[in-house]
Amino acid sequence: MKIVVESTDNAIKEAAQSLIEGRLVAFPTETVYGLGADANNQKAVSRIYEVKNRPRNHPLIVHISSINQVYKWARNIPEEALNLANRYWPGPLTIVLQRSDLAKDFLTGNQEFVGLRIPNHTMALKLLEEFEKLGGNGVVAPSANKFGAVSPTTALDVIDEIGNDLGQNDLILDGGKCIIGIESTVVKFAKETIELIRPGAVTLSQIEKFTGKIVSKPQEKLGFRFPGILDKHYSPVAKVFISNKAMPGDGFIALNELETPKGAIRLASPNNPTEYAQQLYQALRLGDKKKLGRIFVVPPIIGEFSESIFDRIKKANGGLNLDG
Ligand code: TXA
Ligand code: MG
Repeated sequence: MKIVVESTDNAIKEAAQSLIEGRLVAFPTETVYGLGADANNQKAVSRIYEVKNRPRNHPLIVHISSINQVYKWARNIPEEALNLANRYWPGPLTIVLQRSDLAKDFLTGNQEFVGLRIPNHTMALKLLEEFEKLGGNGVVAPSANKFGAVSPTTALDVIDEIGNDLGQNDLILDGGKCIIGIESTVVKFAKETIELIRPGAVTLSQIEKFTGKIVSKPQEKLGFRFPGILDKHYSPVAKVFISNKAMPGDGFIALNELETPKGAIRLASPNNPTEYAQQLYQALRLGDKKKLGRIFVVPPIIGEFSESIFDRIKKANGGLNLDG
């Protein structure tokens, strides 16, 4: 595995060439780091599932660089889906649509739908554009973590997560810290309905306001601890409590305005929900690096973005992020 820190044209071209040749390239986006592969190369996509230890029925998001590509990957595209894409792309929004023949079972987890997104990150966009210039079309990229673990928001996190599982010729592009810090909003357009599959920085009411339609929320999918086999991949390793009752020696994550309970170890002090999202995964990782047994987290409550953050805290509290 090679780490590329410069975002020079040549470095990115080389990374795009790697994708064309079937290698994996981890890259930064505005949300979290993704582990990329050529979406049309079954072998390369298969390696993503192996590296992440992710069940094969979990669909991957296809990352594209222009709205025109939506027509290649999807069909029967509702107009409001296209309008929404035009409004929020490039950005932290994944749109799930009826798939075209191009979107094969090996990336949709056998579903008739495909998730698409244009990320808002210079390095990611350049990579996608160079890849397309070389004849590529679409890069699948799940978060670059082990299944069930916290998504990486720096290149170092990617190394910690999957560095040992990448091959000699795979790449990690280092684009610094991710500006949003939690994964994209995922919305599914099925016939007449719009469903929020995963909350994120683009909020449910923004989508409702924009489309003029009610967006249904999925049933709460709380994570839970599998006994045994996935032991290593709990997210995080420390047990997460949604409470301010930290005891001496426990980790503590809360907005800056909240005082640290006596003897607790402060892991982050964000000033607002935006900073909270940026720092949350780093703080959970820090708790694990410090080998803390327990981390107490007080979620932010003001503003709709707080609900998306709370979703991720609940997943960490459940011990296993089934989003993978
Ligand atoms: O912010 C993000 O979306 C990041 C960056 C790298 O783009 N990617 C990411 O991918 O979080 P992943 O694979 O870790 O999570 C993908 C989410 C899952 O919740 C998955 O179920 C949903 O998107 N998803 C993708 N394709 C889908 C489909 N066809 N139908 C339903 N859900 C889908
Ligand atoms: Mg993930």
